[in-house]
Amino acid sequence: MSDKKIVYSGIQPSGNLTLGNYIGALRNFPKLQEDYDCIYCIVDMHAITVPQEPKVLRAHTLDILALYLAVGIDPEKSILYIQSHVPQHVELMWLLNTMTGLGQLQRMTQFKAKAGDNKEVYAGLLNYPVLMAADILLYGSHYVPVGDDQKQHIEMTRDLAERFNSRYSDTFVLPEMLKTKVGGRVMSLQEPTKKMSKSDPDANGYVLILDDDATIRRKFKRAVTDSQGKIAYNDDQPGIKNLLDIYSACSGKSIEDLLKAYEGKGYGVLKEDVAEAVIQEIGPVRERFHEIRGNKAYLEEVYTSGAQKAAYRANKILRKCYKKMGFIPR
Ligand code: TYM
Repeated sequence: MSDKKIVYSGIQPSGNLTLGNYIGALRNFPKLQEDYDCIYCIVDMHAITVPQEPKVLRAHTLDILALYLAVGIDPEKSILYIQSHVPQHVELMWLLNTMTGLGQLQRMTQFKAKAGDNKEVYAGLLNYPVLMAADILLYGSHYVPVGDDQKQHIEMTRDLAERFNSRYSDTFVLPEMLKTKVGGRVMSLQEPTKKMSKSDPDANGYVLILDDDATIRRKFKRAVTDSQGKIAYNDDQPGIKNLLDIYSACSGKSIEDLLKAYEGKGYGVLKEDVAEAVIQEIGPVRERFHEIRGNKAYLEEVYTSGAQKAAYRANKILRKCYKKMGFIPR
């Protein structure tokens, strides 16, 4: 193990990934490999907090692994694995569950949003953040690159780490959220005050990483704007603001430069150019994805060796927790 700081993140295989997942999280992962000791997980245990079709879950799990590889995560440099292959996550979750307030879990915005008006809400959905805390704490992670919507989960992870440390002596690192400069919250193309999400019933609200070029152009063409007719970056024009954020994230150009370049221009041109910038950015990823996804043997090799490395590390921290809490070692 190196003395580099540890970066940890995860993505749920609960559907096809959106441009939001890509800009807010995925595309930042390979860049971190050079400076940090990186661990990237496919959090299939989190995905089942909402109903999943078994065949589809299996396919999506391998899709995420292929996407991790397609964006340039190198399994020689980073650990890539599937959460359910390392049962220590669930063990630590149980330990942390015994020190997590029910009220705190019920107040989590994501829980409230997902539970919504559903008559049947399962305990797994409520305990989702405890499993996420276990994921992160199990590896002594220093930084967690995630989109803005995960802020509350990271705060709760820190709370739990502090609680454990003060009760049983210093054990866990207090992790910090690593925010992206632009695109920490990509909004829906149809309702730009709402986060872009793969669970949106309106498919025009999101762009998928695996959408083809024509679909991407069509979705941007239909993107909701406003009737102000000027290209500006402010909260009164959430549709335009979102388009500029996506454009800036995909082109590398600053918002100021974009505002100068589009002064006096129409929304139609902006939408077309954003679509092209997105295609430029994700087109190559999509191509590599299709090459890698077909190679089942390679994927299996990557997740098998990833799970071995992850379990080795996870076990070390978990044993410490058990010991400190008073369990008899095996
Ligand atoms: P998930 O699978 O919902 O999302 C994966 C990542 O994508 C980011 N994201 C977005 N970023 C910007 N704009 C958006 N519209 C957008 N939508 C999603 C998310 O912030 C996330 O970074 N709870 C996590 C999974 C998880 C995890 C972990 C993450 C489980 N354990 C440990 C880090 C560390 C989640 O819901 O991801």
